[in-house]
Amino acid sequence: MDSETSQKYILDIFSEAAENLGFNVQNVRTEIIQPDLNFGDFATNAALVLAKQLKRNPQEVAVQFADELKNLDQQEVFSEIYAAAGFINFRLSQKTLLANLSRILLEKDGFGSSQRGNGKTMVVEYFQNNVAKPPHVGHLRSAVIGDSILRVLKSQGYKTISDTHIGDWGVQFGILIFAFKEFLKNGGKRENIEKDPIVELNKLYVEMSNNIEQDPSLRDKGKEEFVSLEKGDTENRELWQWFVKESLEDFDKYRSWLDVLPFNHNLGESFYEDKMPAVLEGLNAKGLITTGETGESYVDLESFGLGRAILVKSDGGTTYLLRDLATYIFRKGEFDFYKNIYVVDNRQSHHFKQMFKVMELFGYKAAQDSLHVDFGFMSLPEGAISTRKGTTVNLKAWIEEANKEALEIINEKNPELENKEAIAKLVALAAIKYFDLSHNRKTEITFTWENALSFEGNTGPYMQYAHARIFGILRKSNTTPSRLVGTPLLFKEGRTAVSPPNIGGVPADKAGEVVLNQNELFVLRKLYQFPQVLKQVSQDFLPNLLCNYLFELSQAFNSFYESSPVLQEKDPQLQSFRLNLITATAQVIKNGLYLLGIEAPEEM
Ligand code: ARG
Repeated sequence: MDSETSQKYILDIFSEAAENLGFNVQNVRTEIIQPDLNFGDFATNAALVLAKQLKRNPQEVAVQFADELKNLDQQEVFSEIYAAAGFINFRLSQKTLLANLSRILLEKDGFGSSQRGNGKTMVVEYFQNNVAKPPHVGHLRSAVIGDSILRVLKSQGYKTISDTHIGDWGVQFGILIFAFKEFLKNGGKRENIEKDPIVELNKLYVEMSNNIEQDPSLRDKGKEEFVSLEKGDTENRELWQWFVKESLEDFDKYRSWLDVLPFNHNLGESFYEDKMPAVLEGLNAKGLITTGETGESYVDLESFGLGRAILVKSDGGTTYLLRDLATYIFRKGEFDFYKNIYVVDNRQSHHFKQMFKVMELFGYKAAQDSLHVDFGFMSLPEGAISTRKGTTVNLKAWIEEANKEALEIINEKNPELENKEAIAKLVALAAIKYFDLSHNRKTEITFTWENALSFEGNTGPYMQYAHARIFGILRKSNTTPSRLVGTPLLFKEGRTAVSPPNIGGVPADKAGEVVLNQNELFVLRKLYQFPQVLKQVSQDFLPNLLCNYLFELSQAFNSFYESSPVLQEKDPQLQSFRLNLITATAQVIKNGLYLLGIEAPEEM
């Protein structure tokens, strides 16, 4: 019985118990939680809530329930049902846990997946790079969090549509065009920019931004260039297209290096250029647009505490917000999504609040069907990351440094390893992605080289290492995982093994008594939780929950392995069980890492 089914089972036997005991539980919400594993695998406070209603002693009511529930658990799903401080705790039986082990071995890569999503469409937008800017370490957050969310949603039976929404439109391109024209005027050569376009263009942009700080009137020149770009000026169009082309190539290099799944769509802000007028007309027809003192158009959101949502500026230039409105409408029409998710840092909370509110006023259900999956921004110990102030660590530098260190470690620990460079890349990526994913996305992260390149403790490489270690044991045992699969274990409660004709090569009549130790049981119980963790991640969009889980599972495996021999175990029955246990552990680590976008090499 899997986690979901056993929770339904608890609900069923709970209402049956209530009936038998003569309690009316119609007004008691039976919620099931997963307590600390020391207390049990599941718990409910339903008896507590009921006792309060009846003004009775909670523990007494809980004990009454626990006794009745024990009688009702004919299927022996649980080995223990007991009351503590008014809670009812449930501990899974060995039988249930072993059935789950068999299931992992049978379902292999599919273990953990579900059809919960029922094919409903989820649009996930992430990795929204900005044209003509080299990505820095902070840009990785949206990419890896979004990629992991997408993978988890896929695994839970949703239809997913990914989109990048790159920043390829706005006044900044007017400023860049102006800067480039000035550069040519002063004798600069286009060839010199072409050598390393992203870096060089960014330099021009930064320089111009600094000049604007000295002389704000220069900004107007940039604005003018943008307005003429919007009007279709040929020269400006060509320049802009060149910036975009170079940037797209650059982004895709990062995407593929980072092993972020390819995107279904790459519809940047400029894609919505011709879709904005219709939005303005629509809003206007509903009387939602006000003209401001200096001629700007906005939707008044003061009464919602959200200020003014500016759609067209006084110089006639369209805004980022207006493009987002057009984006929403386009996606709704094109994809008919169930949910539309924006993985964007929390400095844009206000922006998304304004946007969703305008859509609501317009008649859409944005407050329910769209979600800003926000994350805390990454900064450096010396403060905010700013390309302009030069306080930045670019992504490329991090990637290169991580590769170098991973290779050094492999050279030290396993110099004979084949494909060293390729494995080093996987380890480096694991360190980088996990660093980002393991923090609750809501928290701010401080990037330090030491933390960002850690390979021990709660890190991606630690999990990869547990996985590779298991494969090492399996290689030595001459038992390939595939031979183990297909020989499910059938243990009966009472700690006696009833084996099928053949368990991992052991004839059935040799099947002795198997008494599982605490470490083995603990690993089994962690394995049982995996599908539930994925359900949680797919609801809360918190990949760090999966990281925590995998860390605990790897630790459980390590404690088991320190105390329980596998290769040295004399009892063939027990040895066979342990081989199955570690095989399943490796499988779940692999499945979990995949959902974080991290590969699990068999040797490292
Ligand atoms: N490119 C934007 C920025 O760097 C982020 C885009 C977020 N997505 C959106 N639909 N607004 O600020």
